[in-house]
Amino acid sequence: MPAEIKLRQASVHDLAAIMQIERECFVRDAWSEQNMLDELAAPHTFYLVAEMGERIVGYAGLSNLAGSAQADIQTIAVSPDSRGLGIGRKIMFALTAEAKARGAREILLEVRADNTVAQKLYRVFGFKQIGIRKKYYQPDGVDAFVMKTELPKKQPIVLGIESSCDETGVGIVRGNELLANVISSSMDQHARFGGVVPEIAARAHLEALQSTLDKALTEAGISLGDIDAIAVTNGPGLAGALMVGIGAAKALAVALDKPIYAVNHLVGHVGVDLLERGALETPTIALLVSGGHTSLLLVNDLLDDVNLLGETIDDAAGEAFDKVARVLSLPYPGGPQIDKAAATGNPKAIRFPRGLSLPKDMAEHRYDFSFSGLKTAVARHVELAASRGEEINIADVAASFREAVVDVLVTKAIDACLEHKVPRLLLGGGVIANARLREVAAERCAKHGIELRIPALSLCTDNGAMIAALGAQLMMAGRAGSGLAFGADSTLPVTQVQSR
Ligand code: KG4
Ligand code: ZN
Repeated sequence: MPAEIKLRQASVHDLAAIMQIERECFVRDAWSEQNMLDELAAPHTFYLVAEMGERIVGYAGLSNLAGSAQADIQTIAVSPDSRGLGIGRKIMFALTAEAKARGAREILLEVRADNTVAQKLYRVFGFKQIGIRKKYYQPDGVDAFVMKTELPKKQPIVLGIESSCDETGVGIVRGNELLANVISSSMDQHARFGGVVPEIAARAHLEALQSTLDKALTEAGISLGDIDAIAVTNGPGLAGALMVGIGAAKALAVALDKPIYAVNHLVGHVGVDLLERGALETPTIALLVSGGHTSLLLVNDLLDDVNLLGETIDDAAGEAFDKVARVLSLPYPGGPQIDKAAATGNPKAIRFPRGLSLPKDMAEHRYDFSFSGLKTAVARHVELAASRGEEINIADVAASFREAVVDVLVTKAIDACLEHKVPRLLLGGGVIANARLREVAAERCAKHGIELRIPALSLCTDNGAMIAALGAQLMMAGRAGSGLAFGADSTLPVTQVQSR
């Protein structure tokens, strides 16, 4: 049995052994000793030798200028009496791994046109002929084939921090793959106020960030040193709350000496879909409904072309649920409570208004939403019943209110799909938990041949994974980091995917 073959990095002390193989293999066009010495000592090269027992039986060299996406295999040789043992293949594995580790995206090499054995080996490693250099090898006058292989793109590990509202979210992704998604919510602390209190939210982020980060790292099974970039929400959202996440993200980026990506929260809600299905299919219409936003987007390209079709002109959809729940004396957050109460109610019991849905609204507010009139209508209904001494049927009121909200949301979203000829609708935000919204969206999408996409609820509510996913997309697209000058922007427009 032949002795085990081991690879190690070459040094100038291996020169004699290397030159012996060089002369055996390349006879008339062998490099000179000086030439080989220069190569071994150059800062941009990586040479390795293959040892069988104590003896050097092969060597190879790679050259890659710092920061360059291209690596070149300079030479590869195996002693004639040690061929057929898979040494060339082992060397190629090691060179390819080294090129990847140096951040190269492609490797090039030249091979003698008459060396079919070597060409076959290179093809196994994905090399394809891209050119020919006539009479390259002298003095024989043999042509060189230029061959190239593309290395798969590195999937960066990105840590995302979200703190735009009441959820402290830390998520970790590797490329399109979700590694961790940890959320700490301060919702309970806002309950007695019936809505999110900005100062309380900011303080809660500060208290929760460290432990949320630790949990996310544990869940992903990585340490801070493994992270390639940091992503953070810089808007839209509550300014004080955003600042806490941004401060933490900048500190991490500086400490780890890694790039930071300041990303748009709303676009994060859209991009999260790719953690479940791979690359986002575009164009898509996205309906984002939560306690903080109600937005209808046309997404032609996740990183470059996101358009706002419409948004709420007063309360957000989730906020409407929360306020109406208060009117009905249901606890905060009101969405789940109303959803539950509505299950046994009659959605047609009361005809509540559909905001901005009349023909006169179509010119200016075709895709905008308004829920404050609806909230007032529910309050009136309840007051009137009370003044008459009638008992309120909470189930019927909840079901009728829910129906009004859902009807407007889905009608406008489907209209946008039809008008823009987009056969896809993506939903995001905490209100997506609503049972009736899911039902009506599914029914109407099916009727119009529109594909409906609803990410898992843990990815629909505010979270750090969606921020990490968007950051990873930017990084993989070759975008530079944001620098450290950006700040919180509570009204960041959806068209600005990354801030600098
Ligand atoms: O996205 P999200 O978790 O975060 C913030 O906006 O902060 O959304 C929370 C909102 C709350 O307003 C809540 O009442 C609403 O989503 N929500 C619901 C349901 N579950 C949560 N609204 C309607 N039906 C639900 N089942
Ligand atoms: Zn959100």
